[in-house]
Amino acid sequence: MSVDVEKILRTVDTPLPSFPPKVITLAGGEPMVVRQIDRDEIPDLLPHVEALIHHERDFYDVVSARVYSELLAHYRNRYQDQYVLVAQIDGHLSAIVNGRWVNPDQGMSLHTLGLRRGLRVGAHAFASKMEYHFDFLKQKEVLIVAESPIGFRRWMIEYKLEKRFQIPHELGGCPSWSLTKELFDAARGSLIVGSRPVPADLLKKAEAGILEPTDPPKPPADFLAATRSQYDSTGKSRIAEKR
Ligand SMILES: CC(C)(COP(=O)(O)OP(=O)(O)OC[C@H]1O[C@@H](n2cnc3c(N)ncnc32)[C@H](O)[C@@H]1OP(=O)(O)O)[C@@H](O)C(=O)NCCC(=O)NCCS
Repeated sequence: MSVDVEKILRTVDTPLPSFPPKVITLAGGEPMVVRQIDRDEIPDLLPHVEALIHHERDFYDVVSARVYSELLAHYRNRYQDQYVLVAQIDGHLSAIVNGRWVNPDQGMSLHTLGLRRGLRVGAHAFASKMEYHFDFLKQKEVLIVAESPIGFRRWMIEYKLEKRFQIPHELGGCPSWSLTKELFDAARGSLIVGSRPVPADLLKKAEAGILEPTDPPKPPADFLAATRSQYDSTGKSRIAEKR
């Protein structure tokens, strides 16, 4: 008897409502479109995530390696109930966020990756995925962890997250924090901003294709200098130098 192993291994997603696209005006006046993507656009993201895998500063290495793995597994139907939102400025990729539906009451925040610094694009993209969990998936709480001190400032401090340390988070088993519906509602209008519908020309430009980030985080130009100045505690800059 032949067995179709792919049918057993392939994840079958729970049918869920989609995230309606939104537009956020950044501090400099530029409109940023946040929209959900399907599997077919994931290959357009992967090279930009891969480019950050050896970028130690601000934990871009850990986060981008994990995001790469999550996106690839989702693309190849090996990740249960994952969604992906992208933020684009004039078509150019500025942030990626993803998460997971766990059950009708609980969502799991996976990652936030900012590809343009200094404009709070990461903060806005994170707020959009929380909006997806509470306003569209109608969940009661989202479990969150931070890999970087900036992430800790952005999520734990700014939203005043509650500890759920008894629950190991899916990201490495770290102690979880929770954004509850009450905390989310308290952040409306301050941390949660933006409007709908997205003007047709902006949405058309965003949907036409994901263009490369205009000013992505860059590794130091001289890896040896980085080694000397930071004492290369992990040896990664020496490894990168030899590549
Ligand atoms: C965490 C993250 C999503 C936040 O994105 P963001 O809201 O757009 O914020 P930025 O990264 O632009 O800025 C954060 C801080 O870095 C500093 N910063 C701004 N421009 C910078 C630049 N070009 N280079 C380095 N640091 C910069 C600012 O001081 C800012 O401080 P603030 O909190 O006082 O505003 C983003 O920093 C990121 O992707 N980090 C790497 C991955 C990560 O840690 N993800 C979250 C996992 S929990």
